[in-house]
Amino acid sequence: MNPNNFKPASIAAQALGWIDGRTKAIVEPVHMSTTYIRDPDNQFRSGRVYARDHNPSYDQAEAVLTVLERGHASLLFASGMAAATAVFQALTPGDHVVAPKIMYWSLRNWLANFAAHWGLHADFVDMSDPDAIRRAVQPGRTRLVWIETPANPMWNITDIAAACEIAHAAGALAAVDSTVATPVLTQPLALGADIVMHAATKYLNGHSDVVAGTLTTREESALWQRIKAIRVEIGGILGPFEAWLLTRGMRTLYPRVRTACTSALAIAGHFAQHPLIEEVLYPGLPSFKGHAVASAQMHGGFGGMLSIRVRGANGAGEHAAIATAANTALWKRATSLGGVESLIEHRASIEGPGTPVPADLLRLSVGIEDTGDLIDDLEQALEQART
Ligand SMILES: Cc1ncc(COP(=O)(O)O)c(C=O)c1O
Repeated sequence: MNPNNFKPASIAAQALGWIDGRTKAIVEPVHMSTTYIRDPDNQFRSGRVYARDHNPSYDQAEAVLTVLERGHASLLFASGMAAATAVFQALTPGDHVVAPKIMYWSLRNWLANFAAHWGLHADFVDMSDPDAIRRAVQPGRTRLVWIETPANPMWNITDIAAACEIAHAAGALAAVDSTVATPVLTQPLALGADIVMHAATKYLNGHSDVVAGTLTTREESALWQRIKAIRVEIGGILGPFEAWLLTRGMRTLYPRVRTACTSALAIAGHFAQHPLIEEVLYPGLPSFKGHAVASAQMHGGFGGMLSIRVRGANGAGEHAAIATAANTALWKRATSLGGVESLIEHRASIEGPGTPVPADLLRLSVGIEDTGDLIDDLEQALEQART
């Protein structure tokens, strides 16, 4: 399959149309071997030495993702955190980085604690305001601007092109956690980013049965060389079966994401003026702060993630939110996102003390179930929580 001839949805559905050379199977096998035969003269002309360095089961997933992200190359990692932290570890102690105030909390904690101890200086800013990024970058000292858009769990939108321009003007690189947007909706590399990251645990795999992470680079660079070395040397590699499952998951990426987007927009619209809801946070709503930027940089939908702030009696929104999540039947009360099943989560409980997330907020990951069923289930749970 020549990827230039087909649309991304076709490329994903056939995982680039790879055929197993030995058996002619249209699904590639899983390669479990941890080591490879040396040539008699002690060379490795196969190009593969040991499974921490190379695994043929990575090739297809990495190649598919590189095409979907319109990048130069991709790497699979053992988790989204392993992928993201590899980018920061490729910097040098003493370097300055700029990151969003609202972002995936575990990575924010890692930056504020482990990375700070290791010698990185991170400033957390409101990335929905390009002037705030401009004020935070220190020309010559800032090495990386980390972007997450839409950002967990308030779905703040960053103008990727504007943020990348500010980063580059200051001599810094720009990386985008595009987990929620997915390559279906946004291509950060085409907007100027140097690296795009995914928690592949979420939409790329899409079935809540693999923990994985990915990075894709716009070009071969010194940073990319260091990232590749980090994967081999620190060893945050994905298992071959998980890589195979990820390839299979990506085959249905487009229909899954499109269905989730359509459903999320309908759910957001339904609850936007609801008497038991204080606020619906969803980039697809015209009233949402980042809607105009999201409309410009997200194509074909605004994602499957939204949050609702529950209006409790006498201001007891937290209690009402927890009670709502306790009463859903179809929405599953669990963390994570991007799977075919819809999940509901009281986010402040999982993030713990110090979280910037409002206590009345429920994060919703919309799956591919019937939209009417999802709305009805949430309606009855809100009603039960009121009584
Ligand atoms: C936006 C985002 N980035 C990164 C991660 C980390 O991914 P993982 O759990 O695979 O390490 C998550 C996980 O929830 C996430 O939602």
